[in-house]
Amino acid sequence: MKYGFQKAKEAEEKMGRTVAGCPFRTRYHIMPPVGWLNDPNGLCQFKGEFQAYFQYSPLNVNGGGGYWGHCVSKDLLHWEYREPVLTADIPQDASGVYSGSALVEDNKIYIFYTGNVKKPGDYDYIDAGRTSTQILVESEDGQNMSEKTILLGMEDYPEDMTQHIRDPKVWKEDGEYYMVLGARVRAWDSQGKRRDKGGVLIYVSEDKKKWSLYRELVPEKPFGYMWECPDIFSLSEERLLSFCPQGLEAREDRFQNIYQSGYVFFSQMEDLEDNFREWDMGFDFYAPQSFETEDGRRILIGWAGVPDTAKTYRNLSVENGWQHCLTIPAELTCHDGKVYRMPVRELEDLDWKRAVLENGRYRWADKTLRAVFSQVQGEKRQICIGTEKNHLTVTVQGDQVELSFLDKEGTPAPCGGGRGKRTGRVENKVEDLLILIDSSIVEIFVNQGELVFTTRIYLEKEERKIWFGKWENASLEVVEEEQQRK
Ligand code: FRU
Repeated sequence: MKYGFQKAKEAEEKMGRTVAGCPFRTRYHIMPPVGWLNDPNGLCQFKGEFQAYFQYSPLNVNGGGGYWGHCVSKDLLHWEYREPVLTADIPQDASGVYSGSALVEDNKIYIFYTGNVKKPGDYDYIDAGRTSTQILVESEDGQNMSEKTILLGMEDYPEDMTQHIRDPKVWKEDGEYYMVLGARVRAWDSQGKRRDKGGVLIYVSEDKKKWSLYRELVPEKPFGYMWECPDIFSLSEERLLSFCPQGLEAREDRFQNIYQSGYVFFSQMEDLEDNFREWDMGFDFYAPQSFETEDGRRILIGWAGVPDTAKTYRNLSVENGWQHCLTIPAELTCHDGKVYRMPVRELEDLDWKRAVLENGRYRWADKTLRAVFSQVQGEKRQICIGTEKNHLTVTVQGDQVELSFLDKEGTPAPCGGGRGKRTGRVENKVEDLLILIDSSIVEIFVNQGELVFTTRIYLEKEERKIWFGKWENASLEVVEEEQQRK
Protein backbone atom coordinates (compact mmCIF):
# COMPACT_ATOMS: atom_id res chain seq x y z
CA MET A 1 0.00 0.00 0.00
CA LYS A 2 1.27 3.47 -0.89
CA TYR A 3 2.51 5.56 2.06
CA GLY A 4 -0.34 8.13 1.80
CA PHE A 5 -3.02 5.45 1.94
CA GLN A 6 -1.23 3.72 4.82
CA LYS A 7 -1.39 6.95 6.84
CA ALA A 8 -5.15 7.22 6.22
CA LYS A 9 -5.64 3.62 7.32
CA GLU A 10 -3.69 4.21 10.52
CA ALA A 11 -5.81 7.26 11.35
CA GLU A 12 -8.99 5.27 10.67
CA GLU A 13 -7.82 2.47 12.93
CA LYS A 14 -6.71 4.81 15.70
CA MET A 15 -9.91 6.89 15.85
CA GLY A 16 -12.44 4.46 14.39
CA ARG A 17 -13.88 3.20 17.65
CA THR A 18 -14.35 6.63 19.25
CA VAL A 19 -16.03 7.91 16.13
CA ALA A 20 -18.32 4.90 15.81
CA GLY A 21 -19.49 5.41 19.41
CA CYS A 22 -20.47 9.03 18.82
CA PRO A 23 -24.21 9.66 19.38
CA PHE A 24 -24.26 12.03 16.42
CA ARG A 25 -23.47 9.41 13.77
CA THR A 26 -26.20 9.36 11.11
CA ARG A 27 -27.76 6.39 9.41
CA TYR A 28 -28.58 7.42 5.85
CA HIS A 29 -26.07 10.20 5.27
CA ILE A 30 -22.52 9.75 4.03
CA MET A 31 -20.01 10.58 6.77
CA PRO A 32 -16.23 10.34 7.01
CA PRO A 33 -15.17 7.19 8.91
CA VAL A 34 -12.91 9.52 10.94
CA GLY A 35 -11.80 13.15 10.56
CA TRP A 36 -13.30 15.70 8.21
CA LEU A 37 -15.39 15.50 5.03
CA ASN A 38 -16.31 18.22 2.55
CA ASP A 39 -17.54 18.19 -1.07
CA PRO A 40 -19.19 15.19 -2.72
CA ASN A 41 -17.10 14.15 -5.73
CA GLY A 42 -17.35 11.75 -8.66
CA LEU A 43 -21.01 10.85 -8.08
CA CYS A 44 -22.22 8.21 -10.53
CA GLN A 45 -24.01 4.93 -11.00
CA PHE A 46 -21.67 2.26 -12.28
CA LYS A 47 -22.75 -1.27 -13.14
CA GLY A 48 -25.93 -0.70 -11.15
CA GLU A 49 -24.16 0.44 -7.99
CA PHE A 50 -23.99 4.05 -6.78
CA GLN A 51 -20.51 5.46 -6.21
CA ALA A 52 -19.93 8.50 -4.06
CA TYR A 53 -16.51 9.96 -3.44
CA PHE A 54 -15.82 12.87 -1.12
CA GLN A 55 -13.12 15.31 -0.03
CA TYR A 56 -11.67 13.57 2.99
CA SER A 57 -9.17 14.52 5.73
CA PRO A 58 -8.73 11.46 7.96
CA LEU A 59 -5.63 12.96 9.55
CA ASN A 60 -7.24 16.19 10.71
CA VAL A 61 -10.76 16.68 12.07
CA ASN A 62 -10.51 20.35 11.06
CA GLY A 63 -9.89 19.70 7.39
CA GLY A 64 -6.91 20.31 5.19
CA GLY A 65 -7.82 17.63 2.66
CA GLY A 66 -5.55 14.97 1.37
CA TYR A 67 -7.83 12.26 -0.01
CA TRP A 68 -10.86 11.24 -1.98
CA GLY A 69 -12.86 8.93 0.29
CA HIS A 70 -15.15 6.35 -1.30
CA CYS A 71 -18.60 4.92 -0.51
CA VAL A 72 -20.89 2.60 -2.44
CA SER A 73 -24.61 1.94 -2.19
CA LYS A 74 -27.33 -0.03 -3.90
CA ASP A 75 -30.17 2.30 -2.88
CA LEU A 76 -28.62 5.75 -2.29
CA LEU A 77 -29.37 5.39 1.45
CA HIS A 78 -27.29 2.54 2.88
CA TRP A 79 -23.69 3.47 2.17
CA GLU A 80 -20.73 1.20 2.66
CA TYR A 81 -17.39 2.85 3.21
CA ARG A 82 -14.39 1.69 1.14
CA GLU A 83 -10.79 2.82 1.19
CA PRO A 84 -9.68 6.21 -0.18
CA VAL A 85 -8.98 6.14 -3.90
CA LEU A 86 -6.87 9.24 -4.51
CA THR A 87 -4.15 11.07 -2.64
CA ALA A 88 -1.27 13.37 -3.55
CA ASP A 89 1.46 11.41 -5.33
CA ILE A 90 2.50 13.49 -8.33
CA PRO A 91 4.04 17.00 -8.30
CA GLN A 92 0.86 18.48 -9.83
CA ASP A 93 -1.36 17.50 -6.88
CA ALA A 94 1.17 17.87 -4.07
CA SER A 95 -1.06 20.14 -1.92
CA GLY A 96 -4.35 18.40 -2.56
CA VAL A 97 -6.53 16.17 -4.72
CA TYR A 98 -9.34 18.69 -5.04
CA SER A 99 -12.92 18.22 -6.17
CA GLY A 100 -14.04 16.68 -9.44
CA SER A 101 -16.52 14.46 -11.21
CA ALA A 102 -17.02 11.09 -12.88
CA LEU A 103 -18.06 10.03 -16.36
CA VAL A 104 -19.14 6.44 -16.94
CA GLU A 105 -18.37 5.02 -20.36
CA ASP A 106 -17.20 1.69 -21.87
CA ASN A 107 -17.50 -0.09 -18.54
CA LYS A 108 -15.09 2.33 -16.92
CA ILE A 109 -15.27 5.30 -14.61
CA TYR A 110 -13.30 8.30 -15.82
CA ILE A 111 -12.51 10.63 -12.95
CA PHE A 112 -11.57 14.26 -13.55
CA TYR A 113 -10.24 16.30 -10.63
CA THR A 114 -8.05 19.27 -9.80
CA GLY A 115 -4.52 18.88 -8.55
CA ASN A 116 -3.73 21.80 -6.28
CA VAL A 117 -0.24 23.04 -5.50
CA LYS A 118 0.64 25.84 -3.11
CA LYS A 119 4.33 26.59 -3.31
CA PRO A 120 5.96 27.41 0.01
CA GLY A 121 6.84 31.09 0.25
CA ASP A 122 5.37 34.53 0.63
CA TYR A 123 2.65 34.39 -2.02
CA ASP A 124 -0.93 35.64 -2.20
CA TYR A 125 -1.98 32.31 -3.78
CA ILE A 126 -4.30 34.23 -6.11
CA ASP A 127 -1.93 35.64 -8.71
CA ALA A 128 1.18 33.84 -7.54
CA GLY A 129 2.28 30.71 -5.75
CA ARG A 130 -0.51 28.36 -6.84
CA THR A 131 -1.00 25.94 -9.69
CA SER A 132 -4.29 24.30 -10.64
CA THR A 133 -4.02 21.26 -12.90
CA GLN A 134 -6.89 19.22 -14.31
CA ILE A 135 -6.13 15.51 -14.09
CA LEU A 136 -7.75 12.28 -15.35
CA VAL A 137 -7.71 8.81 -13.79
CA GLU A 138 -9.57 5.73 -14.97
CA SER A 139 -11.01 2.85 -13.03
CA GLU A 140 -12.57 -0.46 -13.92
CA ASP A 141 -14.04 -1.11 -10.48
CA GLY A 142 -14.48 2.31 -8.87
CA GLN A 143 -11.79 1.55 -6.30
CA ASN A 144 -8.48 0.99 -8.09
CA MET A 145 -7.30 3.96 -10.12
CA SER A 146 -4.97 4.10 -13.14
CA GLU A 147 -1.94 6.34 -13.46
CA LYS A 148 -2.76 10.04 -13.51
CA THR A 149 -2.93 11.84 -16.87
CA ILE A 150 -2.43 15.61 -16.97
CA LEU A 151 -5.10 17.31 -19.07
CA LEU A 152 -4.82 21.06 -18.51
CA GLY A 153 -2.24 23.20 -16.75
CA MET A 154 -1.68 26.89 -16.05
CA GLU A 155 -0.48 27.52 -19.62
CA ASP A 156 -3.84 26.35 -20.99
CA TYR A 157 -6.08 28.90 -19.26
CA PRO A 158 -7.01 32.32 -20.66
CA GLU A 159 -4.74 35.26 -19.78
CA ASP A 160 -7.15 37.06 -17.48
CA MET A 161 -7.56 34.13 -15.08
CA THR A 162 -6.10 34.14 -11.59
CA GLN A 163 -4.57 30.85 -10.40
CA HIS A 164 -7.89 29.67 -8.91
CA ILE A 165 -9.33 27.31 -11.55
CA ARG A 166 -10.85 24.06 -10.33
CA ASP A 167 -13.57 21.46 -9.85
CA PRO A 168 -14.03 19.93 -13.33
CA LYS A 169 -17.51 18.59 -14.07
CA VAL A 170 -17.52 16.57 -17.27
CA TRP A 171 -20.41 15.40 -19.45
CA LYS A 172 -20.94 14.02 -22.94
CA GLU A 173 -23.19 15.69 -25.46
CA ASP A 174 -23.64 14.98 -29.20
CA GLY A 175 -20.55 12.81 -29.30
CA GLU A 176 -18.27 15.38 -27.66
CA TYR A 177 -17.06 15.83 -24.11
CA TYR A 178 -17.43 19.06 -22.19
CA MET A 179 -15.72 20.16 -19.00
CA VAL A 180 -16.87 23.11 -16.90
CA LEU A 181 -14.39 24.64 -14.44
CA GLY A 182 -14.92 27.19 -11.67
CA ALA A 183 -12.73 30.29 -11.90
CA ARG A 184 -11.67 33.54 -10.36
CA VAL A 185 -11.12 36.14 -13.06
CA ARG A 186 -8.80 39.11 -12.62
CA ALA A 187 -10.86 42.33 -12.85
CA TRP A 188 -10.96 45.96 -11.74
CA ASP A 189 -13.85 48.30 -10.92
CA SER A 190 -14.45 51.73 -12.53
CA GLN A 191 -12.15 53.38 -9.96
CA GLY A 192 -9.34 51.05 -10.94
CA LYS A 193 -9.62 49.02 -7.75
CA ARG A 194 -9.01 45.30 -8.01
CA ARG A 195 -12.36 43.51 -7.93
CA ASP A 196 -12.16 39.92 -9.16
CA LYS A 197 -15.12 38.15 -10.73
CA GLY A 198 -16.34 34.61 -10.46
CA GLY A 199 -17.01 32.78 -13.70
CA VAL A 200 -16.71 29.44 -15.46
CA LEU A 201 -14.59 28.10 -18.29
CA ILE A 202 -15.96 25.41 -20.60
CA TYR A 203 -13.56 23.14 -22.48
CA VAL A 204 -14.39 20.66 -25.23
CA SER A 205 -12.72 17.40 -26.27
CA GLU A 206 -13.22 14.57 -28.72
CA ASP A 207 -11.30 11.95 -26.75
CA LYS A 208 -11.36 13.07 -23.05
CA LYS A 209 -7.59 13.73 -23.25
CA LYS A 210 -7.02 16.75 -25.52
CA TRP A 211 -9.10 19.71 -24.44
CA SER A 212 -9.57 23.14 -26.00
CA LEU A 213 -11.34 26.21 -24.67
CA TYR A 214 -14.95 26.36 -25.87
CA ARG A 215 -16.52 29.21 -23.88
CA GLU A 216 -15.84 31.60 -21.03
CA LEU A 217 -18.90 32.52 -19.02
CA VAL A 218 -18.02 35.56 -16.98
CA PRO A 219 -20.78 37.99 -16.05
CA GLU A 220 -20.47 41.63 -17.05
CA LYS A 221 -21.37 42.74 -13.52
CA PRO A 222 -19.49 40.84 -10.80
CA PHE A 223 -21.52 38.24 -8.91
CA GLY A 224 -19.01 37.19 -6.29
CA TYR A 225 -15.22 37.00 -6.76
CA MET A 226 -14.93 33.22 -7.23
CA TRP A 227 -17.25 30.43 -8.40
CA GLU A 228 -16.55 26.95 -7.06
CA CYS A 229 -17.97 23.56 -8.00
CA PRO A 230 -19.86 24.38 -11.21
CA ASP A 231 -22.25 21.87 -12.77
CA ILE A 232 -24.19 22.08 -16.04
CA PHE A 233 -27.19 19.88 -16.82
CA SER A 234 -30.71 19.94 -18.24
CA LEU A 235 -34.06 19.42 -16.56
CA SER A 236 -37.28 19.34 -18.59
CA GLU A 237 -35.57 20.95 -21.60
CA GLU A 238 -34.14 23.77 -19.47
CA ARG A 239 -30.35 23.94 -19.23
CA LEU A 240 -28.99 25.25 -16.00
CA LEU A 241 -25.72 26.18 -14.37
CA SER A 242 -25.27 25.31 -10.72
CA PHE A 243 -22.33 27.00 -8.96
CA CYS A 244 -21.05 28.27 -5.62
CA PRO A 245 -20.31 31.97 -5.66
CA GLN A 246 -18.09 33.41 -2.95
CA GLY A 247 -18.23 37.07 -1.95
CA LEU A 248 -21.94 37.91 -2.21
CA GLU A 249 -23.18 40.34 0.39
CA ALA A 250 -25.93 39.12 2.70
CA ARG A 251 -29.30 40.80 2.34
CA GLU A 252 -32.66 40.11 3.88
CA ASP A 253 -33.65 36.48 3.22
CA ARG A 254 -30.82 35.97 0.73
CA PHE A 255 -27.17 34.93 0.92
CA GLN A 256 -27.30 34.43 4.67
CA ASN A 257 -24.34 32.03 4.79
CA ILE A 258 -20.73 33.07 4.21
CA TYR A 259 -20.68 31.36 0.78
CA GLN A 260 -23.65 30.40 -1.38
CA SER A 261 -24.67 27.66 -3.73
CA GLY A 262 -27.45 27.90 -6.26
CA TYR A 263 -28.40 27.78 -9.90
CA VAL A 264 -29.51 29.91 -12.81
CA PHE A 265 -31.22 28.89 -16.05
CA PHE A 266 -29.06 29.54 -19.10
CA SER A 267 -31.95 31.52 -20.56
CA GLN A 268 -31.84 33.93 -17.60
CA MET A 269 -28.13 34.34 -17.13
CA GLU A 270 -28.11 38.01 -18.15
CA ASP A 271 -29.39 39.01 -14.74
CA LEU A 272 -27.82 36.89 -12.02
CA GLU A 273 -28.80 39.27 -9.26
CA ASP A 274 -32.49 38.56 -9.87
CA ASN A 275 -32.38 35.05 -11.29
CA PHE A 276 -29.85 33.14 -9.17
CA ARG A 277 -31.74 30.84 -6.80
CA GLU A 278 -30.15 29.30 -3.74
CA TRP A 279 -30.29 25.51 -3.42
CA ASP A 280 -30.84 25.66 0.31
CA MET A 281 -31.72 28.25 2.94
CA GLY A 282 -30.35 26.41 6.00
CA PHE A 283 -27.07 26.80 7.87
CA ASP A 284 -25.29 23.82 6.34
CA PHE A 285 -25.23 23.38 2.60
CA TYR A 286 -22.50 23.88 0.00
CA ALA A 287 -20.69 22.42 -3.01
CA PRO A 288 -23.50 20.21 -4.37
CA GLN A 289 -22.95 17.91 -7.32
CA SER A 290 -25.53 16.21 -9.54
CA PHE A 291 -25.52 13.04 -11.60
CA GLU A 292 -27.96 11.06 -13.69
CA THR A 293 -29.10 7.61 -12.58
CA GLU A 294 -29.48 4.73 -15.01
CA ASP A 295 -33.28 5.24 -14.81
CA GLY A 296 -32.90 8.88 -15.87
CA ARG A 297 -33.31 10.76 -12.60
CA ARG A 298 -31.18 13.82 -11.85
CA ILE A 299 -29.91 13.43 -8.28
CA LEU A 300 -28.26 16.17 -6.24
CA ILE A 301 -26.08 15.62 -3.17
CA GLY A 302 -24.55 18.50 -1.26
CA TRP A 303 -22.06 18.86 1.55
CA ALA A 304 -24.08 19.53 4.74
CA GLY A 305 -21.52 22.11 5.74
CA VAL A 306 -20.07 25.43 4.62
CA PRO A 307 -16.36 26.35 4.54
CA ASP A 308 -14.91 28.91 6.96
CA THR A 309 -17.74 28.81 9.53
CA ALA A 310 -15.69 27.51 12.48
CA LYS A 311 -15.58 30.94 14.13
CA THR A 312 -19.37 31.44 14.01
CA TYR A 313 -20.71 27.94 14.62
CA ARG A 314 -19.37 24.50 15.35
CA ASN A 315 -20.09 20.81 14.98
CA LEU A 316 -20.18 19.12 18.36
CA SER A 317 -19.01 15.80 16.92
CA VAL A 318 -15.48 17.21 16.67
CA GLU A 319 -14.62 16.05 20.17
CA ASN A 320 -15.38 12.52 19.02
CA GLY A 321 -12.96 12.80 16.12
CA TRP A 322 -15.11 13.56 13.10
CA GLN A 323 -17.25 16.24 11.49
CA HIS A 324 -19.58 16.87 8.57
CA CYS A 325 -21.75 14.67 6.39
CA LEU A 326 -23.38 14.86 2.98
CA THR A 327 -27.08 15.62 2.44
CA ILE A 328 -29.72 13.02 1.70
CA PRO A 329 -29.62 12.33 -2.05
CA ALA A 330 -32.47 14.29 -3.60
CA GLU A 331 -34.20 14.16 -6.96
CA LEU A 332 -34.48 17.37 -8.98
CA THR A 333 -37.46 18.25 -11.13
CA CYS A 334 -38.27 21.46 -12.94
CA HIS A 335 -41.65 23.11 -13.30
CA ASP A 336 -43.24 26.56 -12.94
CA GLY A 337 -39.86 28.13 -13.67
CA LYS A 338 -38.18 26.58 -10.63
CA VAL A 339 -36.22 23.54 -9.63
CA TYR A 340 -37.78 21.37 -6.92
CA ARG A 341 -35.68 19.11 -4.71
CA MET A 342 -37.14 16.14 -2.81
CA PRO A 343 -35.47 13.17 -1.10
CA VAL A 344 -35.03 10.16 -3.38
CA ARG A 345 -38.04 7.85 -3.56
CA GLU A 346 -35.94 4.97 -2.14
CA LEU A 347 -36.61 6.58 1.23
CA GLU A 348 -40.24 5.42 0.98
CA ASP A 349 -39.08 1.82 0.88
CA LEU A 350 -37.56 1.89 4.36
CA ASP A 351 -39.50 0.22 7.13
CA TRP A 352 -41.43 3.24 8.45
CA LYS A 353 -43.82 2.84 11.37
CA ARG A 354 -46.27 5.30 12.84
CA ALA A 355 -44.48 7.14 15.67
CA VAL A 356 -45.94 7.10 19.18
CA LEU A 357 -46.98 10.32 20.86
CA GLU A 358 -45.86 10.58 24.52
CA ASN A 359 -47.13 13.59 26.48
CA GLY A 360 -47.64 15.55 23.29
CA ARG A 361 -44.14 14.79 22.00
CA TYR A 362 -42.62 12.27 19.64
CA ARG A 363 -39.30 10.82 20.79
CA TRP A 364 -36.73 9.71 18.26
CA ALA A 365 -33.58 8.84 20.24
CA ASP A 366 -32.18 6.12 18.00
CA LYS A 367 -34.60 6.41 15.16
CA THR A 368 -34.84 8.27 11.93
CA LEU A 369 -37.94 10.41 11.92
CA ARG A 370 -40.05 11.76 9.10
CA ALA A 371 -42.83 14.26 9.77
CA VAL A 372 -45.18 15.42 7.04
CA PHE A 373 -47.46 18.42 7.49
CA SER A 374 -50.00 19.18 4.81
CA GLN A 375 -52.78 21.74 4.21
CA VAL A 376 -50.82 24.34 6.14
CA GLN A 377 -52.32 27.13 4.01
CA GLY A 378 -49.84 29.72 5.16
CA GLU A 379 -51.18 29.84 8.73
CA LYS A 380 -48.75 30.52 11.56
CA ARG A 381 -47.36 27.24 12.91
CA GLN A 382 -44.43 26.25 15.09
CA ILE A 383 -42.46 23.06 15.38
CA CYS A 384 -39.84 22.50 18.08
CA ILE A 385 -37.10 19.92 17.84
CA GLY A 386 -35.38 19.20 21.16
CA THR A 387 -36.27 19.95 24.76
CA GLU A 388 -37.89 22.98 26.38
CA LYS A 389 -34.46 24.46 27.08
CA ASN A 390 -32.49 23.21 24.13
CA HIS A 391 -34.23 23.23 20.78
CA LEU A 392 -34.57 24.39 17.21
CA THR A 393 -37.80 26.22 16.37
CA VAL A 394 -39.25 26.07 12.89
CA THR A 395 -41.84 28.81 12.33
CA VAL A 396 -44.09 28.86 9.32
CA GLN A 397 -46.20 31.86 8.41
CA GLY A 398 -47.58 33.02 5.07
CA ASP A 399 -44.82 32.58 2.51
CA GLN A 400 -42.06 32.39 5.10
CA VAL A 401 -40.23 29.64 6.97
CA GLU A 402 -37.79 30.47 9.75
CA LEU A 403 -35.34 28.18 11.50
CA SER A 404 -34.11 29.51 14.80
CA PHE A 405 -31.90 28.19 17.58
CA LEU A 406 -32.34 31.48 19.47
CA ASP A 407 -34.47 31.94 22.59
CA LYS A 408 -36.47 35.10 23.41
CA GLU A 409 -33.33 36.86 24.63
CA GLY A 410 -31.47 35.93 21.47
CA THR A 411 -29.25 33.34 23.18
CA PRO A 412 -28.40 30.40 20.91
CA ALA A 413 -29.41 26.90 22.08
CA PRO A 414 -26.43 24.62 22.79
CA CYS A 415 -27.69 22.03 20.26
CA GLY A 416 -27.02 24.50 17.43
CA GLY A 417 -23.33 24.84 18.27
CA GLY A 418 -23.68 28.63 17.83
CA ARG A 419 -26.08 28.60 14.86
CA GLY A 420 -28.66 31.43 15.02
CA LYS A 421 -31.47 32.04 12.57
CA ARG A 422 -32.20 31.51 8.87
CA THR A 423 -35.27 32.45 6.85
CA GLY A 424 -36.57 31.64 3.39
CA ARG A 425 -39.65 32.41 1.31
CA VAL A 426 -41.72 30.42 -1.14
CA GLU A 427 -43.44 32.11 -4.06
CA ASN A 428 -47.02 31.93 -2.72
CA LYS A 429 -47.77 30.41 0.66
CA VAL A 430 -46.44 27.49 2.61
CA GLU A 431 -48.66 24.48 1.92
CA ASP A 432 -46.72 21.50 3.18
CA LEU A 433 -43.51 20.48 4.93
CA LEU A 434 -41.52 17.30 5.06
CA ILE A 435 -39.05 17.15 7.94
CA LEU A 436 -36.44 14.43 7.86
CA ILE A 437 -34.35 13.93 10.99
CA ASP A 438 -31.45 11.50 11.03
CA SER A 439 -29.59 11.80 14.35
CA SER A 440 -27.68 15.10 13.95
CA ILE A 441 -29.09 16.39 10.67
CA VAL A 442 -32.47 17.97 9.93
CA GLU A 443 -33.62 18.56 6.36
CA ILE A 444 -36.84 20.46 5.73
CA PHE A 445 -38.51 20.31 2.31
CA VAL A 446 -41.18 22.98 1.86
CA ASN A 447 -43.96 22.79 -0.77
CA GLN A 448 -42.69 19.56 -2.32
CA GLY A 449 -39.14 20.87 -2.51
CA GLU A 450 -39.66 24.46 -3.64
CA LEU A 451 -37.52 25.53 -0.69
CA VAL A 452 -35.15 23.38 1.36
CA PHE A 453 -33.37 23.98 4.67
CA THR A 454 -30.47 21.82 5.83
CA THR A 455 -29.07 22.13 9.32
CA ARG A 456 -27.01 20.10 11.72
CA ILE A 457 -28.36 19.72 15.29
CA TYR A 458 -26.58 18.23 18.28
CA LEU A 459 -29.08 16.82 20.78
CA GLU A 460 -28.25 14.07 23.23
CA LYS A 461 -30.38 10.97 22.72
CA GLU A 462 -32.66 11.72 25.69
CA GLU A 463 -33.23 15.25 24.34
CA ARG A 464 -34.51 14.03 20.96
CA LYS A 465 -38.14 15.06 20.85
CA ILE A 466 -40.34 16.86 18.37
CA TRP A 467 -43.44 18.84 19.35
CA PHE A 468 -45.82 21.28 17.80
CA GLY A 469 -47.92 24.32 18.56
CA LYS A 470 -51.47 24.49 17.26
CA TRP A 471 -52.04 22.67 13.98
CA GLU A 472 -55.87 22.53 13.93
CA ASN A 473 -56.60 22.30 10.25
CA ALA A 474 -53.38 20.88 9.00
CA SER A 475 -52.92 17.17 8.67
CA LEU A 476 -49.89 15.62 10.22
CA GLU A 477 -48.21 12.28 9.98
CA VAL A 478 -45.10 11.29 11.91
CA VAL A 479 -43.31 8.04 11.14
CA GLU A 480 -40.10 6.55 12.46
CA GLU A 481 -37.61 4.00 11.32
CA GLU A 482 -35.83 1.78 13.80
CA GLN A 483 -32.06 2.04 13.79
CA GLN A 484 -30.67 -1.34 12.87
CA ARG A 485 -28.38 -2.66 15.57
CA LYS A 486 -24.98 -3.62 14.31
C1 FRU B 1 -15.31 23.70 -2.14
C2 FRU B 1 -13.82 23.53 -2.39
C3 FRU B 1 -13.55 23.23 -3.84
C4 FRU B 1 -12.23 22.51 -3.78
C5 FRU B 1 -12.40 21.69 -2.53
C6 FRU B 1 -11.14 21.40 -1.76
O1 FRU B 1 -15.68 23.42 -0.82
O2 FRU B 1 -13.11 24.68 -1.96
O3 FRU B 1 -13.51 24.37 -4.68
O4 FRU B 1 -11.99 21.72 -4.89
O5 FRU B 1 -13.31 22.40 -1.70
O6 FRU B 1 -11.39 20.55 -0.69
